[in-house]
Amino acid sequence: MKETKKTITAIMIGAGARGMTVYGEYALKRPGKLKFVAIAEPIRARREKFAQLHEIPANKCFTSWEKLLQKEKLSEIAFICTQDQMHIQPTIMALDLGYNVLLEKPMAHTLEGCIEIAKKVEETGKTLGISHVLRYTNFFSTIKDAIQKGLLGEIVNISHHENISWFHMAHSFVRGNWRNVKSSSPMILAKCCHDLDLLFWLVGDLPKKISSFGSLIHFNLDNAPKNSPKYCVEGCPIEETCLYYAPRIYIDIIPMIQLLEKSGKKGFKFLANLRKNHLQILTGLSKSINLLQRLRYWRDWPVEPLYSGLPEESTEDYSDETKMKILKTSPYGRCVYKCDNDVVDHQVVNIEFENKVTGNLTMHGFSEQEGRTLRIDGTKATLIGQFFNAGQKITLFDHFSGTEKVIFYQQLSLDSSGHGGGDFALIDAFLETIVDDGQAQPLTNANESLESHLMAFAAEESRLEEKVIKMQEFRTKMH
Ligand SMILES: NC(=O)c1ccc[n+]([C@@H]2O[C@H](COP(=O)([O-])OP(=O)(O)OC[C@H]3O[C@@H](n4cnc5c(N)ncnc54)[C@H](O)[C@@H]3O)[C@@H](O)[C@H]2O)c1
Repeated sequence: MKETKKTITAIMIGAGARGMTVYGEYALKRPGKLKFVAIAEPIRARREKFAQLHEIPANKCFTSWEKLLQKEKLSEIAFICTQDQMHIQPTIMALDLGYNVLLEKPMAHTLEGCIEIAKKVEETGKTLGISHVLRYTNFFSTIKDAIQKGLLGEIVNISHHENISWFHMAHSFVRGNWRNVKSSSPMILAKCCHDLDLLFWLVGDLPKKISSFGSLIHFNLDNAPKNSPKYCVEGCPIEETCLYYAPRIYIDIIPMIQLLEKSGKKGFKFLANLRKNHLQILTGLSKSINLLQRLRYWRDWPVEPLYSGLPEESTEDYSDETKMKILKTSPYGRCVYKCDNDVVDHQVVNIEFENKVTGNLTMHGFSEQEGRTLRIDGTKATLIGQFFNAGQKITLFDHFSGTEKVIFYQQLSLDSSGHGGGDFALIDAFLETIVDDGQAQPLTNANESLESHLMAFAAEESRLEEKVIKMQEFRTKMH
């Protein structure tokens, strides 16, 4: 990794989960590389916390991007980390003001918005990177490298799965921010622009034809248990057996325990057992050991968003009693069968690329663990990859010799930065392009990213209108 030669300055728009804990965290850990000099965030507690952590003076703290971008340009980069439907306007305005922009995915929630942004990048000549972090992980760059070295021969087919875990599906796409198309975006865009981007990148050619199927099969009123209340904690008759009973997820942190159990590491299994079966002992030990306090009173994702919804996000109380109280009214406390969700819970996308390679993406929200799996069949070898939170592995099966070789292996680590290391690697790479005065465009620049977004919109049109989309015709919409 090339060292950046100077500290780059930046403004932060939206200090939520991504803004605060990914980009904010990066600047705190690597102060020689990135310094935030202004913040726009309407939630006071978040704004004040970000300002305090990054030593931002009061006159550089704003309650909205509109106010911040009224000022003259304050830094080299604008990080835009607002929700999906609030990407277009701040990005256009920031580019017009002369900022280089690191924009969260999806680029925009509409096709027109994506195109407008790409055109503005061209017009202003500024650098824009989209946060397609997976391209920057060691896992996916190892696969790209294997393809480029010809280890698989000619690629013929890629079969890729985005296996969303049962609880992540419920948390984000049934109860949470991405549950409804009107207030966020279609699931295939919100969740899978990453995956479509990977398929496009790995195949190395444009998609020619796309078709897609999918629906919301499980999280709807038809499956609501008899006499179930709107909120889990209002006396649900099946609270003992329901997979999605909210206290099970946010207080007993069963998903986190399952992750530790699946890691294969003795230490993690020990912690899982302590949390699950010896709560009283853990409670006692947690009074003096920080790590155990974190395990006992879980505050990170998926618990953190429960607190961000509170009117004054000031409570630091992560006790079981307080969480129980929050779940009585929080969107995350709702019965998963009685929410206002309408995004699909499973969808498949079939693609034929210009170079005749075929690919398919299966996305579903019912996985036993969170992660992506893929299989690439080539004329010389087959590659099988498992990219799970609990661990990652890539195996190459050579046709001629009949041998297999593990070319990448990584276990769960509490230190690794988000998205398998991709979050921080993406920021590193983006900062390098800024130091180089944008001479090398980011790997996930506006034009590259536009293609995966086009694929997502095409897939959605195919699913809804039951037709095969010819991408050349679909692309003419861009002009
Ligand atoms: N790259 C990835 O892998 C990845 C992962 C998760 C989320 N995301 C994307 O990142 C974006 C942010 O997601 P998040 O989970 O951090 O959301 P979040 O809701 O936690 O954060 C968004 C923040 O924007 C703030 N905001 C609202 N209006 C604003 C305004 N007018 N001016 C300034 N700030 C304003 C909100 O108060 C909130 O704090 C979304 O588009 C999401 O899809 C990307």
